[in-house]
Amino acid sequence: MKNKIDRRQFVQSTAAIGAGLFVAPEVLSATASTAKKADINVALIGAGIEGQVLFDAASTIGRKSGIKFKAVCDIWDFKRKKFAKTLKKYKRAGYNNAAYVDYREMLDKEKDNLDAVIIATPDCFHAEHTNACLEAGLHVYCEKEMSNTIEGAKSMVLTARKTGKLLQIGHQRRSNPKYIFAKENIIDKSYTTKKVIDPKTRKPKKDPKTGKDLLIDSTLLGRITTINGQWNRSVSACKDLVAPAGTAIPQATLTKYGFKSMKHFMNWRWYKGLGGGPIVDLGSHQIDIYSWFLGEAKPKSVMASGGVDYWKGHEWYDNVMAVFEFDTEAGPVRAFYQTLTTSSSGGYYEKFMAEHGALEISEDPRFFNVGRDMKVVHGKENPITKIMNVPQWNPWIDGGIITPVPQPKKSKKKGVMDVRSSPLLLPNTIHATMDVPYHQPHLINFFDAIRDSKVKLNCPAEVGYHTAVMVLKVNEAVEARKTLEFKPEDFHV
Ligand SMILES: NC(=O)c1ccc[n+]([C@@H]2O[C@H](COP(=O)([O-])OP(=O)(O)OC[C@H]3O[C@@H](n4cnc5c(N)ncnc54)[C@H](O)[C@@H]3O)[C@@H](O)[C@H]2O)c1
Repeated sequence: MKNKIDRRQFVQSTAAIGAGLFVAPEVLSATASTAKKADINVALIGAGIEGQVLFDAASTIGRKSGIKFKAVCDIWDFKRKKFAKTLKKYKRAGYNNAAYVDYREMLDKEKDNLDAVIIATPDCFHAEHTNACLEAGLHVYCEKEMSNTIEGAKSMVLTARKTGKLLQIGHQRRSNPKYIFAKENIIDKSYTTKKVIDPKTRKPKKDPKTGKDLLIDSTLLGRITTINGQWNRSVSACKDLVAPAGTAIPQATLTKYGFKSMKHFMNWRWYKGLGGGPIVDLGSHQIDIYSWFLGEAKPKSVMASGGVDYWKGHEWYDNVMAVFEFDTEAGPVRAFYQTLTTSSSGGYYEKFMAEHGALEISEDPRFFNVGRDMKVVHGKENPITKIMNVPQWNPWIDGGIITPVPQPKKSKKKGVMDVRSSPLLLPNTIHATMDVPYHQPHLINFFDAIRDSKVKLNCPAEVGYHTAVMVLKVNEAVEARKTLEFKPEDFHV
């Protein structure tokens, strides 16, 4: 059939997108071996929970990947010593366990032996640490949120530009094969064209230039009009963290780094001047996807409601609901986002609702659903639907992009739900690529970009900056209790 898609071609084209890599396990090891040509020496600043996650993801890319951790910096003796012990275990693989309290001392002593630094400190230090590493001539992978202030994020963009060094921001969904696949094949790519029918005459409209029937591209979902997303966490998952007995940092050290107490240090996300609360911590990942899937669209406004409803003693809002308005080329899009720390109901996902159906996607590997609207055909094309120009999903199914799930039979019994949309699932080819740590594809993209200038970062400084502008404004809107406008220049650096 005309629009039939070769499944292999799809997978290959997806593989080539941005990530520079397709993360099927066999390809991962192939890349790891091509990568052998040069080692990349890395240091870690911030050996907390996420620092450990990134270390695990980077050090399991493959034995031949050439990624070698050489040093760690952390102000907390407990974490620094623990991490240095881990590094020692890998000595035979070329790792070093040099450990520093002060990043400046680490850069002075180690920079000539380093290529890159991974930064996983609290958000308030990202700008200071990133700028110093870039200025020292090193590439940087810096965790999200890029910074807790617009000025901090802006300074990072400017330093990356000035030094010409790579700066990847840790919005790792941008390298996730499932997200790349969905963006390219479900949101963006058109496999069919359809005639534009005049609603009055029910006849095809003519192209005024050629006089022929006017044809438009038809993507699987059609025009996105609404987005809905959330990250809800249970009360038990959001309790304050407590340091293990005997590991407290002396108060003088805490004060030097801007922490009022151990509680403040452990739970920095909740306090002004250190983090941005759950909307920044969790929401930034997903609001970043809103913009990406809308073709890097920037919102024109945001309204939001939130408060310290439950977690007394915190400074940042525990439950937040926000609505962004985007003006895209295809028309307006309203995008709702919610983060709760008092209920995990519904988990975390992003949902793109459009003319022909909806895509529900999440970093949670269990989530992927393409729901078809009732007017959309994915069975045999019939003459009536053809005449009426009903959207056809057959090309995507024939091409192996989505796999229909058998419908439960309609029940004639009263009161039983009448199912009018059917889930269409991700093909197994993509499932097979997802069996790697979440952050690994993003790290691989960073390392590949260091080795090969043709590989582009999936979340460079400018993209991280746009997300920071969107997300930090939500907290402002909560405080102002009104709709705040974005100006185009807010997104320029
Ligand atoms: N991409 C993701 O999915 C993801 C997930 C979790 C966290 N993060 C991000 O990673 C970063 C770290 O988060 P976390 O959960 O690991 O926090 P954490 O509190 O567990 O770890 C932070 C570490 O940084 C150290 N530190 C604090 N100030 C320092 C300084 N001035 N110099 C050197 N070390 C310092 C602390 O001692 C601690 O070990 C944050 O920016 C967070 O937003 C990203």
